[in-house]
This record gives sequence, structure tokens and C-alpha cells, in this order.
Amino acid sequence: MDSSIDPVQARALLKWLIEAGADEALTDAPVDRFAVAAEARVAVTAEAKVAAPTPASAPTPMRGAPPSAQASTPRPVAPTGDLPRVTVPSPALMPASTATKSAREAAAACKTLDELRAAVEAFDGCQLKVTAKHTVFADGHQGAPVMLIGEAPGRDEDLQGLPFVGRSGQLLDRMLNAIGLDRSTSAYITNVIFWRPPGNRPPTPEEAAICAPFLVRHIELKQPKVLVLLGGTPVKHVLNIEEGITRTRGRWGRYVLNGVEIPALPTFHPAYLLRQPAAKKLAWQDLVNLKLKLRELGAL
Ligand code: URA
Repeated sequence: MDSSIDPVQARALLKWLIEAGADEALTDAPVDRFAVAAEARVAVTAEAKVAAPTPASAPTPMRGAPPSAQASTPRPVAPTGDLPRVTVPSPALMPASTATKSAREAAAACKTLDELRAAVEAFDGCQLKVTAKHTVFADGHQGAPVMLIGEAPGRDEDLQGLPFVGRSGQLLDRMLNAIGLDRSTSAYITNVIFWRPPGNRPPTPEEAAICAPFLVRHIELKQPKVLVLLGGTPVKHVLNIEEGITRTRGRWGRYVLNGVEIPALPTFHPAYLLRQPAAKKLAWQDLVNLKLKLRELGAL
């Protein structure tokens, strides 16, 4: 580290960055993305100018150049028939509609959960994959009666490639254990989004739409007896309900899949419970409610 940097200031800057959500170094040195984008634009424009065929009889003045320079500036001439080189955007930059279509096709082709996991891991249509370290598909028992759906992986999940392994995941495990459920036998956990949004920001509607075909196929292949929706994001994207979680929690919804109704219970996200411990008593009511439903369905 540069010894001229005041360690107190450096620590304060680091603290500020972490609070702003920039809690991870993606490269060894900072990159000014605005400068990179501007340079790329200049390079593409220059390339297009170099390669574009120019009729000798009607020279095009270079924009912004003084008239004298315009007359005398030698202009590179491209070989006849050459077209400007076009840089094809990386798959992660494909339009959302193309990405959603390709997700739909990939998901539909999967016949098992393992195939779906492989398809999600191979999918390049979601921009979040570029900054994520791992694809976070699911954890738990594939034959479990309960399928829990959260929002998106956080930092710990991204590092380990498994959903709900950080502090909120530990709380979730304790909550499940309290009603006799366990990832290794009776619970299966996934998220609406398979890659960590930088800084743990909420996923955008576009990112959710791109992942949605995989989520739908995930539920279809998993065939749970009951869905548990952890927080407002899965309520919105699974039940298509815009209402906030404080209004929907504890009320059974129904997810209709190929004519079969799967009961779906919205409840608080464990990260919310860590911030608002007073809400745990409502979460406990939801857990009891879940246990009763599983008994009623003969699933426990
Ligand atoms: N929060 C989520 O919604 N999902 C995880 O996997 C971890 C934290």
C-alpha cells in the first residue's frame, strides 16, 4: 500500500464503500468503466471510418476538422467490398427478450433437476453472471415436500455456490429445524435469481424475467407439496402479487401448475427477521401454519 495514504482515511473510505454495497474487489486495481466505455466508442467509430468504403469523387469531411485539414488529410481507403467490423455483444449483453426466449428454450429441454442445474450453469443470458463467482442453483433434498424460494444469492452464497448459507441461511435452518424440517431430508431451497446482484441490490424486473423460465421449470420438475416464499420478491415473481410482504405473509396462495394447485405460503425473509427480531413471532405463526398444512397433506 502507498505509505502516503493516511490509514485512518483509508479505513474510513473502505467502511464507506462497504456501506454503499461495494463489499468485494473484482480486480486488483480500480477500473474507470466510464473511461473504458468512452474509449470503446471512440475505437468503434474510428474503425468504422477506416473500413467504410468512401467514393473518391465525393470525399466526406472529417467531422470537426478545420476546412484546410479536411482538404489535405489523407484518408485510408478500405479494400473494395469491406464492411466496418462489428463487435458482437457478449451473450450477457443480449437483449432481454432474446435472453428470456433462450432461457425458455433451455428450460423446456430439461427433463430432470440435474439437467436444469446444468442448463442454468451454462446459460449466459443474465448480466449478473459476469460479476458473480458462482451460479447458485439449489440446495436440499430433491424429493423434499417443501420448496423454499428466496430472492437472490448474497456474498456468502456467491462464494460457496449454495443458497442461504450466510447469517440469514443459518437462521432459516434453525427455523426449519424448529418444525422438524431439514435440508438433508425434507426441505429444498432455491432463489428467484441464480447469480448475486452486485452489492446485494434487489434484482431488476428484467433480471427476474430472464430467470423466470428456469424458475417455473424448477417448480415443475421439483413438484413440491408446498411452496414457501421468503419475502416480497418471490411472492411477486411466483404468485404475481405486487402487494408487500407485510400484507401477504401468513396467507396461503395457490400456484397452479398443469392443473394441479400447490399451496404457497408467503413469509418474512430471514434477513428481515435478523433486522426486525420482533417480527419473529409472526414468522413462528407461519411455521406452525406450514407444519399443519404438511400434516393435512400427509406430507410429513
Ligand atoms: N438471501 C436470499 O434471498 N437468498 C439467498 O440464497 C441468501 C440470502
